[in-house]
Amino acid sequence: MITSHSPFVLSNHTAYQHWRATKLDQFIPDIAALMIEIEIDNISQLDPLQTRALLIQASRYNMAFYRFTQPDSDDAINKAKVHQLAQHVGLQRIDKNICADDDKLTSIKVCQHKGQHQYIPYSNKRLSWHTDGYYNTADNQINGMLLHFEQHASSGGESLLLDPDIAYILLRDENPDYIKAFMHPKAMTIPANILNGKIIRATQTGAVFSLHPTGNLHMRYSARTRNIQWRNNSPTQEAVAFLKSLWDNGSPYILRHTMQAHEGVLCNNVLHCRTAFKDSDNPQKQRLLYRGRYLDRIALP
Ligand SMILES: [Fe+2]
Repeated sequence: MITSHSPFVLSNHTAYQHWRATKLDQFIPDIAALMIEIEIDNISQLDPLQTRALLIQASRYNMAFYRFTQPDSDDAINKAKVHQLAQHVGLQRIDKNICADDDKLTSIKVCQHKGQHQYIPYSNKRLSWHTDGYYNTADNQINGMLLHFEQHASSGGESLLLDPDIAYILLRDENPDYIKAFMHPKAMTIPANILNGKIIRATQTGAVFSLHPTGNLHMRYSARTRNIQWRNNSPTQEAVAFLKSLWDNGSPYILRHTMQAHEGVLCNNVLHCRTAFKDSDNPQKQRLLYRGRYLDRIALP
């Protein structure tokens, strides 16, 4: 619900400037420094200071970075720990997508997915900027997400992340009309997903920026040109081009880190992409990560 005090009301310059200054002052460009705050030995006995650090990071950056320092040799046990950590910060309602494992986390590694298209996430190719579930229906939005790395690639596979709040700031500072365009309910349309003549997901039309009931910003976005139809007017097209220039030219606000085994990020579905990578010839050493998508944002349950 948008109120007159919200920084997301375009006429509310004072609230926006205050919120903007706080966001940018708090920004830290170093994921490794954030990860040191949350080194988890035993998820069953999480130190209250670590819980606090997780929630502070999430409230400041929409992301919290952690490392398991005593991983198990059994991947299934590590997966159970990931579930436990997610639930600990309020990520409870997991969205089971068509590629998910039985426990609803999705194992992402290079593979031919049975009966599915060859989706880019399951290849070693570069994965372009997006938020997760940008094609979901309005009542099934992905507000929270986690990526937990069980094994890193032998080279490449760097993660790049951008807080959607900062994307909003960069767009609004450039031209407030970009925000109006991206808040329009017909800003973007994702065509239906059709497999072997059968519709497995209907066409979705919606806003890029919307407000979660908590008053926080929510973003749906994909840089893929083939699968998105943008509203055909100048502010929308220019806003899309502005984001593309960020991806092409870089920004000091884009976080970069090659996640190592047993490192992860819990987030409020931030913008992210990954670089191409090369896997080891040893199947045990090939890049593997678990992804969880949630209807919840991070908060104390
Ligand atoms: Fe993703």
